Amino acid sequence: MEIRLEKLDSSQLKTKPDENNLGFGRYFADHMFVMTFDRDRGWHDAVIRKYQDFSLPPAAMVLHYGQAIFEGLKAYRGKDNAIYLFRPTDNLRRMNVSAERMCMPAIPVDEVLAALQTLLRLDADWIPAAPGATLYIRPTMIATEEGLGVRPAGRYTFFIINSPVGAYYPEGFNPVKIFVTDKYVRAVPGGVGHVKTAGNYAASIMAAVEAQKQGFTQVLWLDAIERRYIEEVGTMNIFFLINNELITPPLSGSILPGITRDSVLRLTRDWGLTVTERKITIDEVLTAIENGSLQEIFGTGTAAVISPVGELHYKGRDCCINQGRTGAIAQRLFNEIQAIQNGYQEDPYGWAIKL
Ligand SMILES: Cc1ncc(COP(=O)(O)O)c(C=O)c1O
Repeated sequence: MEIRLEKLDSSQLKTKPDENNLGFGRYFADHMFVMTFDRDRGWHDAVIRKYQDFSLPPAAMVLHYGQAIFEGLKAYRGKDNAIYLFRPTDNLRRMNVSAERMCMPAIPVDEVLAALQTLLRLDADWIPAAPGATLYIRPTMIATEEGLGVRPAGRYTFFIINSPVGAYYPEGFNPVKIFVTDKYVRAVPGGVGHVKTAGNYAASIMAAVEAQKQGFTQVLWLDAIERRYIEEVGTMNIFFLINNELITPPLSGSILPGITRDSVLRLTRDWGLTVTERKITIDEVLTAIENGSLQEIFGTGTAAVISPVGELHYKGRDCCINQGRTGAIAQRLFNEIQAIQNGYQEDPYGWAIKL
């Protein structure tokens, strides 16, 4: 696939935002990667060009039937000012799992990775150097065919946009308060919970808003059938350390196979911990809190890396975890994964890709 490069002149570049006040998803780098798919030509018209608006017909199928998938990964400015990506091929492969489930075309993973690397070299000045700040990368695919009727669209746009984001923990690595909902569910077996499609997030907003109104950071979802088995948090997978056993729910088809989750499983097994992917109920967690055997709870995801949980709220009860403090395993994982992501620690897994 040939990629056209429409590079902006230096006079057309945007003024960069203050690296110490980036927040999340508020600013976008100068260039984007775009390519188009149709049935006759496959993927074509690949171009790196100015970050700019799309023009879409009102009948574009994504606006009606929601064929929209995305990914989230980061570029890090690490050791010796070099730029690193963390397991980018895994994100692009996961995107193809999403594409298949949503009857959308697969992307050519190696070529898209090469395009991303070209884009990052071009917009390298957008990868922040402030401590903890990164460039968040958002590959996305939408159905653009003009037409009504529920069926797979015949035309798609794939694009990658990049957004410099601030440190997730500007004031230090602080435990969060989580609301366990038994009122709403996120995903059902046989549904689309295991893929990153936009509708999953739209459907989750109401529960998140209600939880935030009550002072909680995120929602912990239970399974949709019995509302007992723990699934995952809004944008994170979840781990429990009980009696020195590290437990996380299995990839049963209704949770996202997180890349951070996979990295945590690999690292902790290599450290010699007892690590189990198994079903775990909210009652088992509450009992473990009551009898003192629950040592830590933490979430895992690209945005936060590791997010210690200091409090769980369930059915009107507040339960304090590890006296509201970050546990030793969460801290060690956070330090080690960040060190690998930024090239400061030897990476026997081949996860960090230097640009
Ligand atoms: C629903 C959901 N679960 C888990 C995760 C964590 O996945 P990852 O570690 O690949 O970022 C995410 C973030 O992408 C998510 O949106």
